[in-house]
Amino acid sequence: MEFDANNSPFIRLPVPNEKIIITPSRYSDGDAVIELLSDPRVYMNLAGPPYPYGQKEWDSWFPILEKASKDTLAEWREVEQARKEGSHGRQWVTGAHGAPVTAIREVDSVTGEQKFIGSIDATRKNWLFYGVTEENKRKQEANDALEAGDPKIQWDLGFYLAPSHHRRGIMSAAMNAIVHDFLVPYMNAHLIAGSYFEYNSGSRKVFEKNGFVFQEIVPDYYELPESKAGTSGKKVGVGFMKWTRNV
Ligand SMILES: CC(C)(COP(=O)(O)OP(=O)(O)OC[C@H]1O[C@@H](n2cnc3c(N)ncnc32)[C@H](O)[C@@H]1OP(=O)(O)O)[C@@H](O)C(=O)NCCC(=O)NCCS
Repeated sequence: MEFDANNSPFIRLPVPNEKIIITPSRYSDGDAVIELLSDPRVYMNLAGPPYPYGQKEWDSWFPILEKASKDTLAEWREVEQARKEGSHGRQWVTGAHGAPVTAIREVDSVTGEQKFIGSIDATRKNWLFYGVTEENKRKQEANDALEAGDPKIQWDLGFYLAPSHHRRGIMSAAMNAIVHDFLVPYMNAHLIAGSYFEYNSGSRKVFEKNGFVFQEIVPDYYELPESKAGTSGKKVGVGFMKWTRNV
């Protein structure tokens, strides 16, 4: 992670995607976020964000992302300090949304303008997506209760990219950077779950390129909301992937 002239963190992707950086989310991203989450090539592949997605949704989501980023950065500074001093201070970051940087941007090499093109974040595994059962509720509570840095914490990754930028290797590189520049060294991530709608071969490939291992496809696992499918009861199969840190 590097810092810009305003002391704001960013991660730059390697060549050939060196014009792509990942930074904290900004309120001014709202219009671009709304546009992307209103595009069927994006929202039909996502289970998380509400649909339709408008200003109201962004206004309630942005403060959550902003707080997570600030808290994570503050903890990261404590960790860096403790490691430098070799002290017993904070060793790991909580990372409510993974790294403090979640917004993927393309930098215009002439004007320097930064255009929001996507998002990647990590959250503690949402067990209830895997079935609203008493057992999963217990697993969720247990996972949520683990201390920062506990290698037993299970994580989920969520991501999307503007269709204008698909198939340039951007998300594969972004996932690699977030996992290896932040989740592993600062959050001690050992277990990351991934899931994708079965028709989303691009997403599965991004996971595979990052060392996730295919587990299974469960047919008719997820019921698309009527707002997206135009009718109720339309179900899609979900593929499950798993990344385990090699130690
Ligand atoms: C899925 C998504 C993140 C892929 O991002 P991307 O930056 O285009 O992916 P990459 O360019 O890193 O591609 C990785 C590999 O997948 C392949 N791939 C990407 N999109 C593909 C598609 N639609 N169909 C088949 N293969 C695809 C690429 O060719 C590449 O394979 P290669 O290295 O063998 O050439 C992007 O399409 C997206 O944001 N889609 C909408 C939202 C979404 O699906 N989010 C994920 C929810 S689980």
